[in-house]
Amino acid sequence: MSIIVTGGAGFIGTTFVRDWLASTDQALDPVARSETLITLDRLTYAGNRENLDDLNNDPRHIFVRGDIGDTNAVEFLLSTHRPRAIIHFAAESHVDRSIHGPADFIETNVTGTFRLLEAVRSYFSALPIQAQQSFRFVHVSTDEVYGTLRVDDPAFTETTPYAPNSPYSASKAASDHLVRAWHHTYGLPVLTTNCSNNYGPYQFPEKLIPLVIINAIAGKKLPIYGDGLQVRDWLYVSDHCSAIRRVLAAGRVGEVYNIGGWNEQTNLAIVNIICRLLDGLLPRADGASYATQINFVTDRPGHDRRYAIDARKIEHELGWRPAETFATGIQKTVEWYLANPEWIARVQSGAYRDWIATQYGD
Ligand code: NAD
Ligand code: DAU
Repeated sequence: MSIIVTGGAGFIGTTFVRDWLASTDQALDPVARSETLITLDRLTYAGNRENLDDLNNDPRHIFVRGDIGDTNAVEFLLSTHRPRAIIHFAAESHVDRSIHGPADFIETNVTGTFRLLEAVRSYFSALPIQAQQSFRFVHVSTDEVYGTLRVDDPAFTETTPYAPNSPYSASKAASDHLVRAWHHTYGLPVLTTNCSNNYGPYQFPEKLIPLVIINAIAGKKLPIYGDGLQVRDWLYVSDHCSAIRRVLAAGRVGEVYNIGGWNEQTNLAIVNIICRLLDGLLPRADGASYATQINFVTDRPGHDRRYAIDARKIEHELGWRPAETFATGIQKTVEWYLANPEWIARVQSGAYRDWIATQYGD
């Protein structure tokens, strides 16, 4: 028995792989403890092999550098490891990058997902009936596919019409549609999750929360787009991963599950919370608050004003709710970045990518 996790060296994938192998909630999935987990990751700028270094001696974990769009490589992995599930995280994930260069987003999120689906369909169709019945393809997607909300709009449900506004969200929406079609047309047993904004350890410092923590302690400005009153629904990354495990174990095939933190906050509020935490944990030498480093900058083009997730379906059907409050999750997150200056330094200098050259040459 094995599972394949695509994008397992990225932010959420890292926590998924680590939590899976360390998992104490085996009641959710009793077979998981003994099976092999194969991480398939292309190691783009967002993939950091070092995040998984302390699993190097765990015989249950295999790391493979490869592209989800490389059909031969994926078919080889499928036939070698005979997985019972694919958890598909691999994607280009940063909205700002998608605005500057959408091509990679189409290539990986749309074409890559298409090629992965085709390879998995071919593998699935040759499985014995019993293995087909238990096989699952979990597609990890985003709440951004639903577009933007006004202040008083109800939160996104699983039936909210798609209205993606950025190249990133459009590419994720396209991948969701492909996954849905491969279920309806070919009978592939898929489940799709649409989650809100994650935060926590190992997040690449292009995203708001790690960027603000790292800039703050470096004495740099804290860039806030526009008026800073855009709203996001923040979820601690381990909670997202426990929700995915729950969907894999008990979700109904062909269904969509929204995942969120019941935690809507404006960007400005988030940045102020981080500043207050840092003021307590690592006071500035001059006694001033880190909030004095806040700097309002030009808004993101097409910036979605508000996201909010109605996560009642996953709660009612699968009994999942987030374990962390925002207060506990953000405290852990800030403490993790303060405790890991080497990780920050290696990410910022690019040294984390040396492993690729060491292992694979150019
Ligand atoms: P990330 O950018 O941190 O990591 C993406 C990972 O995918 C990296 O390790 C990268 O090397 C790998 N990858 C990229 N292209 C690949 C390819 N062609 N083949 C194989 N591997 C490839 O992203 P993340 O924030 O961890 O997000 C993971 C998934 O969750 C994405 O699908 C994203 O859309 C979704 N999601 C993210 C959030 C969030 O707040 N970060 C919220 C909801 C959903
Ligand atoms: O909603 C889920 C999505 O959340 C995921 O699908 C994406 O992969 C993930 O990147 C995230 O998208 P956002 O665009 O919401 O995340 P980001 O951290 O880039 O920005 C969060 C908010 O903060 C957003 O309103 C833009 C704002 N922001 C961001 C940065 C980087 C700033 O004000 N200043 C900044 O410097």
